[in-house]
Amino acid sequence: MTERPRVFISRTLPGGTGPASPLARVLDAAEVDVWPDFPPPSPDTFATRARDVHGVLTTLTERVNAEFLEACPLLRVVANIAVGYDNIDVPACTERGVLVTNTPGVLTDTTADMAFALMLAVARRLADGERAIRDGEWGPWHPTWLLGTEVHGSTLGLLGPGRIAAAVARRARGFDMRVIYCGRREVPDFPGERVTMDELLAQSDFISVHVPLTDETAGICDRSFFERMQPHAIFVNTTRGGVVDQPALIAALHDGQIAGAGLDVMTPEPLPVDDPLLDAPNLVLTPHVGSATHTTRVKMAHLAVDGLLAGLAGLQPQHLVNPEVYAQAGEQKQ
Ligand code: GLV
Repeated sequence: MTERPRVFISRTLPGGTGPASPLARVLDAAEVDVWPDFPPPSPDTFATRARDVHGVLTTLTERVNAEFLEACPLLRVVANIAVGYDNIDVPACTERGVLVTNTPGVLTDTTADMAFALMLAVARRLADGERAIRDGEWGPWHPTWLLGTEVHGSTLGLLGPGRIAAAVARRARGFDMRVIYCGRREVPDFPGERVTMDELLAQSDFISVHVPLTDETAGICDRSFFERMQPHAIFVNTTRGGVVDQPALIAALHDGQIAGAGLDVMTPEPLPVDDPLLDAPNLVLTPHVGSATHTTRVKMAHLAVDGLLAGLAGLQPQHLVNPEVYAQAGEQKQ
């Protein structure tokens, strides 16, 4: 490409505008249009603004589907500022030779901290205690008030033995927890013992979900899942709301099938204030902020920019989600 490439950035990037910022790096290499508003562009606006660009920097709120790709014929790279990429129709991108990149690794520990924070918050009733102070309901110290569940020494079940699950398992060691995990295959060196799904559900005092959202995992935490958990167990989700059958979770909380839940992700996001989820008992909610620290978000933006710039320069990006693009290009040449 001889002329400078054009890029659309769908949100203000973390890291400011200084000389070494993620934004400055894109400005050095490309003609840039940045969406200025806090809410994301609508799908129509997104497609219109990206109509003539070669690369987009996106977040999980932008849908990159066949319709969008049709509207953006020059597009070569979609760099998602997230480890998850369920907002992107990857096969449709591959079919059109569009590279898709994500940001694994840099948010692992930060998200694991969040999963652990939710476990502790639900088990030790942090939100109940905080509400009681603010609502003037803090009476004299009482030996039976606000009793929670022990975290240390309990059993933690991890669904999906990926990077973030392993980081949660490492934290659990510091709490003397037994760690078990369930996954399609044995993961060598995973800091926990592999069990079946039935064993995971029957033995865990805490279950933390770490599978990406795919057609296969959509709604896997369903009624039968919650029925097979122990009644004192606590459920935590920091991956995507879509892996949970939310009405089933709400029922499980109301019916006491499980003792509580901590969710950083839910359906829909943002959650309307009249959503039935908010009436469920023993629930701690956070607004999809698992990776939300200054340091991590800047690292994610830099990693996404690395992917974008490599793709625009005709190089293979390090965190390429669809390397099949190259195999396909090779086949087309033959
Ligand atoms: C956030 O949810 C991410 O996928 O990075």
